[in-house]
Amino acid sequence: MKINTCLPLTKLATALALLLPFAAFADSAKKLEVFSWWTSGGEAAALDALFKVYKERTPGVEIVNATVAGGGGSAARPVLQTRLAGGNPPDTWQAHPGWELLGQYVEPGYCEPLNDLYQSENWGKVLPEQLVKLLTKDGKQWCVLAGVHRGNDLWYNKKVLEKAGIKIGDTISIDEFLADCAKLKAAGVTPLAVGDSGIWATAQLFENTLLGTVGPTGWQDLFSGKMAFDDPKVKQAAQSYAKLLEYQNSDHSALTWDQAIKAVEEGRCAFSSMGDWAHGEFTKANLKDDVDFGWVSHPGTKGGFIVVADGFTLAKNAPHKAETVSWLKSIGSKESQEEFNPLKGSIPIRTDVDKSKFGPYHQWSMKSFASDALLPSCVHGEAAPAAFQQALNDAITQFVVDKNVDAFCSALVQAAKESNITK
Ligand code: BGC
Repeated sequence: MKINTCLPLTKLATALALLLPFAAFADSAKKLEVFSWWTSGGEAAALDALFKVYKERTPGVEIVNATVAGGGGSAARPVLQTRLAGGNPPDTWQAHPGWELLGQYVEPGYCEPLNDLYQSENWGKVLPEQLVKLLTKDGKQWCVLAGVHRGNDLWYNKKVLEKAGIKIGDTISIDEFLADCAKLKAAGVTPLAVGDSGIWATAQLFENTLLGTVGPTGWQDLFSGKMAFDDPKVKQAAQSYAKLLEYQNSDHSALTWDQAIKAVEEGRCAFSSMGDWAHGEFTKANLKDDVDFGWVSHPGTKGGFIVVADGFTLAKNAPHKAETVSWLKSIGSKESQEEFNPLKGSIPIRTDVDKSKFGPYHQWSMKSFASDALLPSCVHGEAAPAAFQQALNDAITQFVVDKNVDAFCSALVQAAKESNITK
């Protein structure tokens, strides 16, 4: 009797075991895991726009939105590294081209090349060569870009400046900016909003000030080892940065970058030096370009465009490869680029988008991108190896406390040596 009842059960178990791989396949075939750090109001809205286009193009796929909060990816990247090293990759993840993509993800073999996709989508015809170069290694492309941010922007609250009698033209020098800050401070207004609960945000203020002092050629020289990090110009940049820190909000270390932008939106602070993901926050808050807020190149940086480009990869052994390839096609499409970038603050990378869909800030940034020197960001992992990026963050952490210019520059010289940033 016992044997009789067990027999069908055994059969059932065998049948289930046979079906299980198919069930797992059926399940995995319907998913796509996208890993990013896009969690601020503007970032999340823009990411949603990418998802919306994808869902229209590829119905029936469940998107797993794997985000780790923390601007600049400061918290997301370590989590990602652990997953990659443990053989548990998301299907696709956010990556900056340049050193971050090629050194941290391609070199160790975590990515699949995308040259076939670049060919079948004809992207070579509609993408700027200089950008494609940043994501190419061994003749192959390794990510698809959703957009390009300009890192060296100075944002301001128009009403606050008007009230203080400050007018901003289409360029500003560091001395003019310091004079404006002094005037605001005397009038009881906090001049500069910084939200450096993640140290990268104040490192960004330094990066922008550094470009404003060394200029585009100096920038290229620094990151190719032709100019030393204790050059008098770098020291001068550190001194200016120290002066700027005197004008920042007292609660800076408790705030995130987007909370600092909120302080500008609400008129609690006048300015903030931040990449144009800040524009995504203004947009999310329904504020209008040139009416509620304005912008200018960070002091001294007119003529330079610090590139902070956002790409997505295809993982080697991606659990959902076909869905991921569709995702990459989707974010590289004209439609995605036109939906995503107005919300994100970045500009599309495709040269064939409908420019009339973009507002005044985007028009300004597109013009700058087309005519200015394009320079990779160090704070966002493009210009130098991860070890140098980390060393810069460490040196900045120390500098905001002791303002020791010589020690700061020596630390960078040492880090450049260790990272092989040489002539
Ligand atoms: C990314 C942007 C992002 C910003 C703040 C940068 O590293 O490229 O897309 O909005 O960090 O999180």
